[in-house]
This record gives sequence, C-alpha cells and structure tokens, in this order.
Amino acid sequence: MRTDTPPPVRLTDYRPYPFVIKHVHLDFFLEPTKTRVRNKMTGKRSFGEHALMNLDGENLKLISIAINGLAVPEEEYEITPEGISIHMPAGEFCLEIETEISPETNTQLSGLYMSGGRFCTQCEAEGFRRITYYPDRPDVLAPFDVRMEADKDAYPYLLSNGNPVRSGNIGTDRHFAIWSDPHPKPSYLFALVAGDFDVYTDSFTTMSGKETPLAIYVDKGDSDRSAYAMDALKRSMSWDEDVFGREYDLDVFNIVAVRDFNFGAMENKGLNIFNAAYVLADGQTATDADFEAIESIVAHEYFHNWTGNRITCRDWFQLCLKEGLTVYRDQEFSADMRSRSVTRIKDVIRLRSRQFAEDAGPLAHAVRPDEYARIDNLYTATVYEKGAELIRMLRVLIGDTAFFAGLNRYFDSYDGKAATIEDFLNAMQLSTSEDLRNFARWYSQSGTPTVTAKGVHDTIARTYTLTLKQHTSATPGQPDKIALPIPLKTALFSGKGRRLSTKLNGQANDEHLLILRDFEQDFVFTDVSSAPIHSLNRGFSAPVRLVDGLNDANRSALAAADNDPFAQWEGLQTLARNILLEMSKDEDGDHKDSLSAFIDAIDEAYTATIDDPAFAALILRMPTVGELILDQKDADPSKLHATRLKLKRAIARHMQGSLVATVQHSDTGVFDPSAAAAGRRALKAAAIDLLSGLQDEHADRIYESFLSAPTMTEKLSALNALANVENGGPSGEYFDKALLAFEEEWKDTPIVMDKWFSVQAMSIRADLRARLHRLCSHPDFDFKNPNRVRAVAAAFAMNNPVGFHAPDGWGYEFLTDIILKVDGLNPALSARLTTSFESWRRFSPDRQAHAEKQLRRLDDANLSKNAQDIITRALA
Ligand code: ARG
Ligand code: ZN
Repeated sequence: MRTDTPPPVRLTDYRPYPFVIKHVHLDFFLEPTKTRVRNKMTGKRSFGEHALMNLDGENLKLISIAINGLAVPEEEYEITPEGISIHMPAGEFCLEIETEISPETNTQLSGLYMSGGRFCTQCEAEGFRRITYYPDRPDVLAPFDVRMEADKDAYPYLLSNGNPVRSGNIGTDRHFAIWSDPHPKPSYLFALVAGDFDVYTDSFTTMSGKETPLAIYVDKGDSDRSAYAMDALKRSMSWDEDVFGREYDLDVFNIVAVRDFNFGAMENKGLNIFNAAYVLADGQTATDADFEAIESIVAHEYFHNWTGNRITCRDWFQLCLKEGLTVYRDQEFSADMRSRSVTRIKDVIRLRSRQFAEDAGPLAHAVRPDEYARIDNLYTATVYEKGAELIRMLRVLIGDTAFFAGLNRYFDSYDGKAATIEDFLNAMQLSTSEDLRNFARWYSQSGTPTVTAKGVHDTIARTYTLTLKQHTSATPGQPDKIALPIPLKTALFSGKGRRLSTKLNGQANDEHLLILRDFEQDFVFTDVSSAPIHSLNRGFSAPVRLVDGLNDANRSALAAADNDPFAQWEGLQTLARNILLEMSKDEDGDHKDSLSAFIDAIDEAYTATIDDPAFAALILRMPTVGELILDQKDADPSKLHATRLKLKRAIARHMQGSLVATVQHSDTGVFDPSAAAAGRRALKAAAIDLLSGLQDEHADRIYESFLSAPTMTEKLSALNALANVENGGPSGEYFDKALLAFEEEWKDTPIVMDKWFSVQAMSIRADLRARLHRLCSHPDFDFKNPNRVRAVAAAFAMNNPVGFHAPDGWGYEFLTDIILKVDGLNPALSARLTTSFESWRRFSPDRQAHAEKQLRRLDDANLSKNAQDIITRALA
C-alpha cells in the first residue's frame, strides 16, 4: 500500500484567502510544446499581517516573477510541489509571473492541452494551476482579460471567456485576439480555445431585447450536425427566462466541441467546452438517447451561467450547491420539453442504478461531505443526482410559491459571490414557515433511507392507520444515523382500484403529503370505509427505498388502476423485482402462478399505454442485474442474469404477436428527433430486445431490421439485440456481419465508432473475452482518448455485469489491466474506471476474492493519487 496518501481536506479547515485579486490579465503565446503564459494580477492584502502569498501551481516552469515592475529576488519566494510562496509588500501590488507549459504532452486533459491539433482547456476543479500560478480556489473571484497569440493558419480561431475586444495580425504568420470577461469569476471557469473549426451560428434575443450571437465550433465538416445542439441552446435560454427569470449576460455565447474530454461538458463563462459526443447529432449518426443527452447537457451547462457562475461555490465541499441545483434545473427543462412522467422515470432509473449503488458501498458519502482526499473524485452521482433530488424534495416540502421566492432571494443576495449550502438554505428559510434545520441533515448524512410501511384498517372507526418507519444503514464514517424529514406523496385506493378521497388531519384529499420526521410515526386517515391499498412515494417524492408492505395481488390491482404514470410504472417494477428475486432463489421451481399473473399485468399495462409509446417501452423494461444486486447479499450476477432472461423469454413468448408488429413498424419520411418519434423507436427497441430473448427464433427479423434501419437508434437496437443472444446460432453470424458493415460505414467517424466498440463490450456472447482483447488491439483503440477507453472499459465494467463479474475473475483482471495502462496518462479517467469495483463486497465469496485480488494489485502499483483514493476507500 502507498504510504504517501495525502491528508484529507476538511470543511472545518476553511479559511478565507487573505488577498483580493482585483484584476487578472493573461497573455498566451501558444505553441504546442512551449506555450508561454504571462499572468499579471493586481490586488492587495485583504486582512491579516501575514506577508506570504501562496499561489497554486503544478507542472509549471517558472520563467520570471516581478512585483510592481521589479524582478523578485530568489530569496523572496519559494517553489514547492504545490505551488509558490511569495513575500509580498504591504499595500496594492501588481504581480507578474511568466511560466512555460507544454500542452502537447498534457495527457491528463486538465489545464491547457491539445485535442485534434487544437488548444483547449479544462480547469474545473483544479486545472488552472496547471496553466499559471494562481490562488486556484473557487472563492477568489476576479475579472479576466485574455490576450492570445498564435500561428494564423494553424489556429485561425482564438476564443476565451466573456466578450471579444479586438483582434489583428502580427506580421504575416501570426495573429492575436483579446477577450474580456467583466463578470468576476473563479479560475475554474477560465477557458481558452485556439484552432481551426467549422462554425455553426445563430442568435437569441434575450427577454430585455438584446440580440446575442451564438456559435458552435466543431470539426471541419460537422457543422450540419450541430443544429440540434443549437436548437437546444436556444430553448434553454428562453426556458430559463420563462421559468426562473434568468437572462443571459454577455454579448456572445460560444460552445466548442472537442473529442478528447474527461467528462460531458464544462460551463466556462461564455465559452462552454463540450465533449463532442454531446454536441454532434443527426438521425444517421446519433441515437435518440444521444439527442436526449445533448438536449439535457446543453441546458445543464447553460443553466450553470446563473447557478454556478453568477453564484459560485465558496469551496469544493459546496459542489452540490451548483451541481445539484443545476441538475434539478436540467431535469425540469427536459420534463417540459418531453414527457414529464417518462423523464421522471428515467431520472429515477439513473438515480437508483448509480447513486443508490454508490450510497450502499464503500464510496458512500454525503451530498455535502465534510472531508475529501481528491476533489476530482467528488464529481459523483451522489453530489449530482442525489443533490438534485434534495432540491426537488425541498420544493415539495415548502411548496412552489416559497420555493421560487426563496430562489429569487438566493439570486438577489448572492449574485457575484461564492456561497455555501447554508447560504442557500437561509435564503429558502426566509421564504417559508417550514423549519429547514432538519432538512439540512439530508446534506450531511450519507446512505439511502429505507422506509417501511404497514397499514391497519379499523372498520368501526373507519380509520386507516399507516405506520411508517425509517432506517438508514451505517456508511463509512457514519455509524449512527439520525431521522430525516421524508416527504411522501400518498394516495389510498379501494380494493377495486378506485382512488379514495380521505381525510388526514381534517383535510380531505385524494392525494396527501405525509412528512415522516421521526424514526417511526403513525398517520391516521379518517373517513375510510373499507380496507384500502396505499400508494406511497408517488412521483418518487423522496429518494428512499420503500418496503411498502403490500402483497403482489394488491400491487397488481394498483398498477392496473393508478392514474399516476410514475406510480403505475413503479408498481410493475416492484412486481418484476419480486418475481425475479423469487425465481432466482428457487431456480428449479416453475413459478407458474406468479409468472402468469405478472405477465398478464405487463400485457394489460402495455395494451393500455400503447398510445404513449415512450411510456409503454418503459413498461416492457425489466429491472437490470445492477438494480437487483442492491436487494441481495452474496449476489450471483450470472444467476440473476439467467433469471432475468427467463422472465423476458416468458414475456416475449406470451406477447410475441404484438411485439413482432411493433418491430415491423418504422417511421417514414424525414428523420424526426422529437420525443414522440423517439418514443416510437424506443418501443420498437424494447420489443426487439424482448424478442432476442427467444434466442435465434427471430434472428432473421432482427438482422433484417438492422439492414433496413433508417436511423442510428434502430440500427443500434438491432445490433444490441444480436449482441445479447448467447448461443452460437445464426444471431452470432449476423452479429459479426452487422459489425463488419457498421465498421465499413463509420470507420472515419469516431463518435459513431465508439458505439461499435461499446456494443461489443456489452455483448454477452461466448467469445466476449477474446473480443475485448481484439478491441483493445484494434488500430483505432487509443488509451489517450477517454471516449474510446470508456466505450470499451466502462461499457464492459458498468453495463455488462455478466462479463465483468465472470465467476473465474477474468473480467476484474481485464479492467485492472486497463486501469494500470491508463493511470500514467490520465488519473481522472483511471480513478473513474476504478469506481466500477464499488460494489465488490455484495457479490458471492468467490467473486469477492477475485475482486479483492485485483484491488490489491492496484493498491501495490503506486498509482496516481486520484486512483489511490478510490482503491483505499474500496478496500477499507
Ligand atoms: N462542472 C461540469 C459539469 O457538471 C463538470 C466538471 C467535471 N470536473 C471534474 N473534475 N470532474 O457540467
Ligand atoms: Zn454541472
């Protein structure tokens, strides 16, 4: 094990920075291997006597340093591995530092680096210190002016934050551009781009009538594929005005797409930088899921302009202040653009599969943790997804009026500042009579609460007493848990499935909001004439696991009757989970009765919702192995997978006729990316997926559907279906033929080829292992490109539980080999891949032994601090 693990950063150690930076002027002389950065900061000491100024810096070559125009003698400063300490004079200063960096050899993709021959940056969270010496912390805000100079032919476009000021030629070969950002910002929002692009332009007139040019910079030839992202941007801008009253605040707004990027995208002020996969789309090359992701990420980054940029975070412990709120905002946007219930269901699926898993394992942490070892590892499902659920819950708790009043107060009070969760909650508190002190516990307590319900009907008193209990299991560092306020939207139904109007605390309603505040609490409904069936946590009003205390007959009755689509879907998912767990417990039983009752319920719901195909598709979706694992100890993924296949097969057998009809349908005419058209394709994909469960019976049909697919969505759903047939029959041949054709068609389009890599990494065919090795030695596989590495390694480890958890451990070993290769190049990426081990203790003992062996191998390898942090916690 490594001994040099750094001490954690603690929330309680926060100290304000003792200097103010009034203005920053940056001068870049851009060359791939030798970029000169001149950084001129003016400012003054803001408090204290201490004359030492500490600036962060990493991998920088210092060229010169001067204060108020005079070179600083060597004994006046000290360079450390973390940065530089400089003796500062009293009063105002102008500090000038010149450094040299090598963007071309920056494979970490943090700071200034090259992608496809262009310069670009990624500074959140701590990348700016890899560009120049600076107080690289979010609570130091300053206006930035940036001048860039570069070769004119190679880098015709020079972009930075804020507004363009001036540009011009320098001699014949070089040129320059100056940008100025008037909004004080922390260094993590700095961005610079230089290179050659195609530019897709448009404009948006803001609510106060200001016409704002918009541009998306993409690879040569890709400009047509930017139309959807541009459309999403304009819709986001107008939605933020309509719903939150937030207007854009610069003269221009630019988006740049780059192919080498560690995450989805980055909200740099006025210059968002995107992973190209979340910008480029047309019907031929992108799936509907891609369109949906583009819409939501474009919106997310744009919304950050207010929640993140205008109001930023005091320190990185407050990350959820901007991320949770912004995810909440992008989820609401998607719900308004598409179907609200379908969007909500998808958000819940994502929360459950990623965040619940994180919360249930060794990497569990609070939405606002009180310590961390490596900041890059805090960009998690808990901070983002659970963070968004807390905002949603807060809105349910205090109501719409107070919620928006509180938000406006927050915007008014903290505009231009670096704020905390306490600041946010205070603004909310001033707008509601609900005491939010207990609600704040949701931010500091980790783990997913389980709510258990039990109802008793009293015929004589005509009451229904619902007893609710909450329990949260211990998580790392938090052995004992406190009770949280849990808002549960609740309705009661008659045995025949009619929603009842009942009274709670004297109030009559057919849906009530119960707030479970204690570990155990009774809620007494009155006016209940016969024994009801309760429906709890409707719309997923709280991010909890629910043990509802119903039997499956009641649940089926509810699912058939409920007018709330989320509740209906949730009821069927619970039924599916139960039957899957029952079947996997008793593999030899025939489970005839429960199976046929379940299949009838699915068939009925499917028929009833067929006019809303996106929703019907979700009805046909069975819980994944990843979700089922959460309900089990010593889980055996292969067994769960086999059970799941059995269930899908039974559904397919029963519904074959209607599924085949669905598969044969294809929209004609021009491609339509709308939610409605996407819903029809989603249903088709769900049908193909079920039919592929009948092994080779439908191979011809599926292959035919691949060949004739008019859209990438349909092509890929057919390809996925072929990848999921286990035996070596015709599907196998078709799969390989289809892959060849796909590769031939798309070999020059990297983001499409990523799909080709990942569909194979997610396949469950017998040749998977050999196939993975072939993929890694494919000429287009590139350890330096995160999208490509993820297309193989993350697709395999996160979406192929059968392969990854292979009983003899080869899956763990394969991933470990990749992590070991990636780590030296890109620690953020290797750390992310390492999180795939997060649930290792939930599996059967043989698997645990194999996983532990690989984790120990990683632990012994002296990896980056980022990877080491995950490994240490996973093994703890
Ligand atoms: N703020 C960016 C976003 O959510 C993500 C930045 C990720 N940075 C990181 N170090 N993981 O849109
Ligand atoms: Zn974000």
